[in-house]
Amino acid sequence: MKTSIHKLSKMKEHDEPIAMVTAYDFTSARIIDDIGFDAILVGDSLSQIMLGNDTTIPLTIDEALMHTRSVVRGAKSTHVVADMPFLSYNSSIDRSILNAGRFLKEAGAQSVKLEGGHHICETVKLLVSCGIPVMGHIGLTPQSINQIGGHKVQGKSKKQADRLIDEAIALEHAGAYAIVLELIPTEVSKQITSKLKIPTIGIGAGIDCDGQIQVMHDILGLFELFTPKHTKQYVNLAEQTRNGLKEYLNEVKGKTFPNNSHSFSVQYDS
Ligand code: KIV
Repeated sequence: MKTSIHKLSKMKEHDEPIAMVTAYDFTSARIIDDIGFDAILVGDSLSQIMLGNDTTIPLTIDEALMHTRSVVRGAKSTHVVADMPFLSYNSSIDRSILNAGRFLKEAGAQSVKLEGGHHICETVKLLVSCGIPVMGHIGLTPQSINQIGGHKVQGKSKKQADRLIDEAIALEHAGAYAIVLELIPTEVSKQITSKLKIPTIGIGAGIDCDGQIQVMHDILGLFELFTPKHTKQYVNLAEQTRNGLKEYLNEVKGKTFPNNSHSFSVQYDS
């Protein structure tokens, strides 16, 4: 049985931290599932990390669906949240419902994540009324990067902080079951977390959120183009990958791979 949104909200009640990480493929999802994370986000960060785009904006629904399907195949008991791509939930209510529904019907996700505050609350209400659980996302919302003008911490002034608090409360009232808080000062996310019944999941939002999420490729040292301040690198898989591949390359060039143990032979009857 997959972890449900109710289990995630019980975890807040019992002060048990919710551990989340991103994944974009079957093999990673299997490992994450095996070690017992509470939820996986098929983040639209896959646009940069898997597809090599500069931002999350070019990601299409079909690309996001394909990656979500592969994660779902690997996640036997972990809750899978699908990130809805830029403009797939803001142009019309009908289209938002149909697009969100595709992530549950065609890809097998358990919930979807939408970026934004007050302006998406009507959409959240309708999705929830159709049986589609919604995770919100406020603070730095990378799909609005052209509006925001960079990866900047949000909610630094009292006015901005109050606005974030209002947005979080509005999303809870609209029926969101959890909210990602991205790049928000610790004091502000602490206040938001204490005002909400639903869990907050922080990324660059300090220790007082109900859970944490990180991009898997950042914490494993696999994505080398940019390392955000809020991440911690637990291993350097880029270096290990480079070393392993170099060794293979050298053995192929030096004709020491394959040897007999990696080869097959046959004896013909004479
Ligand atoms: O796409 C993503 O990886 C995200 C996380 C940063 C929360 O939205």
